[in-house]
Amino acid sequence: MEPLELIHKYYPEDSEACRILVSHSRSVADKALELARRHPEMNFDLPFIEEAAMLHDIGVFLCDAPDIGCHGEAGYICHGYLGADLVREAGYPRHALVCERHTGTGLSLQMIRERHLPLPLRDMRPVSLEEQLICFADKFFSKARLGEEKPMYKIVKSLSRYSGRDAVGRFAAWCNLFL
Ligand SMILES: [Fe+2]
Repeated sequence: MEPLELIHKYYPEDSEACRILVSHSRSVADKALELARRHPEMNFDLPFIEEAAMLHDIGVFLCDAPDIGCHGEAGYICHGYLGADLVREAGYPRHALVCERHTGTGLSLQMIRERHLPLPLRDMRPVSLEEQLICFADKFFSKARLGEEKPMYKIVKSLSRYSGRDAVGRFAAWCNLFL
């Protein structure tokens, strides 16, 4: 599959949103591929990692995030599962799960309930190694400072602020597993 073809179905090629989305997604894909290549023993599916990492944020245009050129109606937290719906419709259910399961270190059903998040009630934590690796790699890149890898202390600070202590623990476990 060609991820850019699917991206361009929703993002005009010369738009700000497209430029930001593709640049961020490329950084995440490169980071995930680099880590995957460091761990041949984990038998990662490299083509899948590249495609799914390029698509993980495809739902952002449906959200209200003017800073990144997106003027949709949904809250930003919805971009994962909304993107997953599009990717599933296009015939790629395995890629769709990466979209749906990459927010923070993943959103548990309990967290969705407790925080009254405007999301479907299902567990949205990454399961497969590829889902976990892409979610992990994504934490190193914001969409505000394109192409710049975030230092570890900033990742931990923002995870503890927005996602809680469990998320920091999950991130630490990934550091042990993937770095
Ligand atoms: Fe995202």
